[in-house]
Amino acid sequence: MSIVIAVDGTAASGKGTLAKRLAQHFGFAHLDSGALYRLTALAVLEAKGDTQNEADAVRGAQTIDFNRAGDPAIRTDIVGKAASHVAAIPAVRQALLDFQQDFLARPPGGSPGAVMDGRDIGTVICPGATAKLYVDAAPEIRARRRWNELKSMGIRRAEQDVLNEINARDAADKSRPVSPLKQALDADLLDTSDLGIDAAFAAALALVFPKVDGALKDRHRG
Ligand code: CDP
Repeated sequence: MSIVIAVDGTAASGKGTLAKRLAQHFGFAHLDSGALYRLTALAVLEAKGDTQNEADAVRGAQTIDFNRAGDPAIRTDIVGKAASHVAAIPAVRQALLDFQQDFLARPPGGSPGAVMDGRDIGTVICPGATAKLYVDAAPEIRARRRWNELKSMGIRRAEQDVLNEINARDAADKSRPVSPLKQALDADLLDTSDLGIDAAFAAALALVFPKVDGALKDRHRG
């Protein structure tokens, strides 16, 4: 059994940055599962398909090019909204399930553990995760962060539009029947509203460290 840290949470809550830093800290592999849904959405949009059509969306999920996970094209709010559409289709989630569970069971590079961020990692993908975080922040603060992130990518948006988009996407993610976004019963809540990235990382590490360290020691004991 590999060691798994599941980081779920609302849009632009900082979960991706935290997941990446936790992975670096422990020397674990990291997967941003949101990129899978964003790449699926991009594949559908590029094929001029309909992101709410099951056949189009499943074809998109089957043809994603993971080499494009770093492509800024998947970070736009248009692709974010389209990702939320494809993510509500059960057959799409099913098509992406094995990839995610294989990644956690056998983290690349022979790493003893993996960190995965998303919406359903601690509830559906890996309910037995070693440690679980649920990351949230006030919507206005998340909108400001995302607005800045978009600006740094050369995308100029009205901050109110970014806030509306984040609120709409959270509402859709929380209310969908399949794998809705919710805090797992055994997840620790981390509210990053008043925390800069270093303080948020310190808080995240304090929450997961005892569990991950215990699991690492158990492994050494064999
Ligand atoms: O970066 P941000 O928090 O805005 O979003 P993301 O993590 O890249 O996810 C984009 C969309 O993919 C979400 O709004 C969800 O609809 C969907 N998603 C999901 O359903 N399940 C996941 N494990 C990850 C993302």
